[in-house]
Amino acid sequence: MEMKDKSTGIRAQLDQAEKMRKYLSEKNLLRNDLKISKDNAFIYFPVKDLPRELDPYKVLKKEFEKKETEPKSYKEIVSIPDKLKHELPTSYDAIGDIILIKLPNKLLKYQKEIGESLLKSNKNVKTVCLIEPVTGEFRTRNIKVIAGEKHTTTTHKEYGLKFDVDVENTYFSPRLATERKRVAGLVKPNEIVVDMFAGVAPFSIMIAKYANPKIIYAIDKNEEAVKCAKQNIKRNNVLDKIEVINADANEIHKILQKKADRIIMNLPFSAHLFFMYALKIAKDYVIIHYYDILKVGMIEERTGKLKKIAEENGYALPNLDIRKIKSYAPREFYIGIDITAKKMPM
Ligand SMILES: C[S@@+](CC[C@H](N)C(=O)[O-])C[C@H]1O[C@@H](n2cnc3c(N)ncnc32)[C@H](O)[C@@H]1O
Repeated sequence: MEMKDKSTGIRAQLDQAEKMRKYLSEKNLLRNDLKISKDNAFIYFPVKDLPRELDPYKVLKKEFEKKETEPKSYKEIVSIPDKLKHELPTSYDAIGDIILIKLPNKLLKYQKEIGESLLKSNKNVKTVCLIEPVTGEFRTRNIKVIAGEKHTTTTHKEYGLKFDVDVENTYFSPRLATERKRVAGLVKPNEIVVDMFAGVAPFSIMIAKYANPKIIYAIDKNEEAVKCAKQNIKRNNVLDKIEVINADANEIHKILQKKADRIIMNLPFSAHLFFMYALKIAKDYVIIHYYDILKVGMIEERTGKLKKIAEENGYALPNLDIRKIKSYAPREFYIGIDITAKKMPM
């Protein structure tokens, strides 16, 4: 590709450079596709037009270097039939240097082209993976590398933290970053926190770094997630704050000697099945950050169920703060509920 282009330019003294740049950009006269250049004595601005006010300045024809322009979106450069372009997804997840994208059936034939265009339009990305929805107990997914380096492990950065993630064998959602930071902001000094479905431990590490809890117990049943969690705890220097336990959350009351001030239950679709086990490890007053994926019309039914489980286990739920965190499917949401649970007098 030709890296230079001949253009009309305006020459200014170096000490006039900032004034001239401001003037030209306010009047929209600068060519944005070319780089401004300079030598020992002058600065040269590539311009689109020459209004009369610029008469006192030296005008010249000059070669200017082209700016490297990143394509705005992979949709602009992908080579697939035009009639299919409207099927291209507008969003996808980026975990570290890996892009994860779901494609509708009609586009599967063009997965290689789509993968290559995503690589070209995202300079920091090394691998593009085609994914299916998360399934099964460990919330993992079938993955196929469709472009770039053939690896499925990466390091994701979030609020100054670094998480090693194996996108094939562990669950991680970059879209929950703000939620994790919000929860960390609620943790009071010296709290005992239990992260019942910790995964690679992003909630636990965010809390250990941005709050001052006494201890966090990070539980997960998936050995691969536990491996990543241990690595992440070490690399973020919070070994003294988090204890990782490879166990089934429904057994945790038999293992833990301590009771929790705060419990995180991030296991959408199934968290309600573990609510009674959360209450077994709760202090008399506890905050539970409960996550679920629900159709709008199902939220009331689910909270009713949680209240019933609480009652059967000697707790009342005086406060349920329900928030829609992100949409999951039409009229279906990833829901966060901050639950206050209080032991009822016998
Ligand atoms: C949706 S992921 C959440 C991971 C993590 N909290 C996060 O935000 O990235 C749910 C996690 O729960 C774990 N899990 C599923 N069933 C479990 C169980 N019965 N006991 C403990 N962990 C379980 C899965 O392995 C998975 O890592």
